[in-house]
Amino acid sequence: MSNVIVLGAQWGDEGKGKIVDLFSDRFDIVARYQGGHNAGHTVQVGDKKFILKLIPSGILRPGVRAVIGNGVVVDPAALVEEMDMLEKMGIDVKSQLSISNRAHVIFPFHRVLENISENRKDREAIGTTSRGIGPCYEDKVGRRGIRIAELLDEPTFRTLYRYIAEDKQTLARAFGIESEIDFAGICQQYRMLADRLRPMVCDTARLLNDAISAGKRVLFEGAQGTMLDIDHGTYPFVTSSSAAAGGACTGTGVPPTRIDGIVGVSKAYITRVGGGPFPSEAHGAAGDAIRRAGNEFGSVTGRPRRCGWFDVPLLRYTATVNGFDSLIITKLDVLDELSDIPVCVRYKIGGVETDEMPATRAAMESMEAVYETLPGWRKPTKGTTRYEDLPDEAKRYVDFLESRSQVEVGCVSTGPERSQTIVRAGSKLEKLFS
Ligand code: GDP
Ligand code: IMO
Ligand code: MG
Repeated sequence: MSNVIVLGAQWGDEGKGKIVDLFSDRFDIVARYQGGHNAGHTVQVGDKKFILKLIPSGILRPGVRAVIGNGVVVDPAALVEEMDMLEKMGIDVKSQLSISNRAHVIFPFHRVLENISENRKDREAIGTTSRGIGPCYEDKVGRRGIRIAELLDEPTFRTLYRYIAEDKQTLARAFGIESEIDFAGICQQYRMLADRLRPMVCDTARLLNDAISAGKRVLFEGAQGTMLDIDHGTYPFVTSSSAAAGGACTGTGVPPTRIDGIVGVSKAYITRVGGGPFPSEAHGAAGDAIRRAGNEFGSVTGRPRRCGWFDVPLLRYTATVNGFDSLIITKLDVLDELSDIPVCVRYKIGGVETDEMPATRAAMESMEAVYETLPGWRKPTKGTTRYEDLPDEAKRYVDFLESRSQVEVGCVSTGPERSQTIVRAGSKLEKLFS
C-alpha cells in the first residue's frame, strides 16, 4: 500500500494538477501540504476544465477525500468561492473535503502588506501572486498567526484578531497608509465564513494517520515547485512555504516513515512566473513560440509565463533534495514543431563551468546556460499513449533527459487530458501507482 508524494521539479506549473487527477482514482485521500490560493492547477476532464487553487485535485474523483493540511494557508473567502464553483459543477465538496484545524488564516491586511513590499520603489519586486501568502506565513513563523481552529471560536478570534489588526494598522501607517482596518466588518465576514467551513474542519493529521493505519492510501499533492521552495529554491525569488518533498510531512503531520514514494513532475522544457534568475530562459521569438504552443499564461494571474529550455543541472538538484523515485515529463507535444531543441547541460559562472546550484543572488544572476542541441521530431505526438509509438527523435530526447538527470522517466504526458499519457511498463512509477 503506497503513499506517494507528487510535486513540481521546476518553478511550478509543471502539470501537477493533471497528474494528480490522473492517478487519484488509485488513492483514498489526496492531501495538499503547503501554499495557498497562489497555486493554479488546471485539470481537464473531457470538455470540462477545472482550475483548482486551494482544494486538492483529488476532489474531482467521487469518493476520494480531499484534505487541506496544516501547512496550507487558507483565505476563507477564496476557499468558499472555490467550493461554490465546484459544487455548481456537480462536485460533492461538502462530503469530500476536510480542512486542518491547524492551517493558518489569510486576512485582507496580508494582501495590503504584500503590495506595500512589492511596490517599494527602491527594491526589486519578487513578482508575487498578490494573494497575501508571504505575509501570512510571516505571521505563522512570527507566532502571531491565527489558525482555523481559532477562527471557529468567536471570542478567541475577536481577541486575537484585534491584537494582530492593531499591529498591522501601525505598520501600514508607517508606510503612509491611513485607511482604517474595518474591525467589525472583518469579524462579521469571517464569522460567516467560519460557519461555512466548520463542518469540514478537523485534526487532519489524525485523520490521515488513522487512514494509513487502516490500510488506506494517501497521495500528497505539492503546489508550486522545488525551485520556489523557501529553503531550496532560488531565494529570495521563491514562495514562502516548503514545496519540496520534506514539506509533505511537516505540512500534514504524516511522518516520513509512512511515505513510500516520491514522484517529480517536470515539463519537457521549463517556465517560471515572476522575477528571479532563469539561466535557460529563451528570449524573443524562441520563447514566444514555446509560450504560444504551450499556452503558457498563468492560471491564477493570467501573466505570460517566462519560457525556456530544459535545465539538467536544475533537475539533478531538485532530484537530490527531493529523492525522486521517478520523474514525469509533461507537455512533450508542445515541442512537436521544433527542428532543434537546446538542453541546458551545465552552467557557467564567472567563466567557470559547473553543474552545481549556487546559493547567492549574485552567482544565480550571473549563471549562464551551456547547451547541447538535440534534433526535433517535427511530427505530432499529441495524445500518444505508448512509448514505442513516439517518433525516434522524441524517444531520444526523453532518454537524454533521463540519462542526464539520472532519474527514471516513468511517465510522459502528451496532452492535457487524462488519456493523453504514456506510463512506461516496468517502471518504478507504474509500481508506485498500481
Ligand atoms: P500545475 O500548476 O503544475 O498543475 O500546472 P498548470 O495547470 O498551472 O499548468 C499546466 C498546463 O498545461 C495546464 O493548462 C494543463 O491543462 C496543461 N497540460 C498538462 N499536461 C499537458 C501536456 O502533456 N500537454 C499539453 N499540451 N498540455 C498539458
Ligand atoms: P502552481 O502550484 C508558478 C510564484 C510567483 C512568484 C513567487 C512568489 O500552480 O505551480 P507568492 O504569491 O507565492 O508569494 O509568489 O512564486 N508562484 C508560482 N509560480 N506556479 C505556482 O503555483 C506559483 N505559486 C507562486 O509567481 O514568482
Ligand atoms: Mg499552476
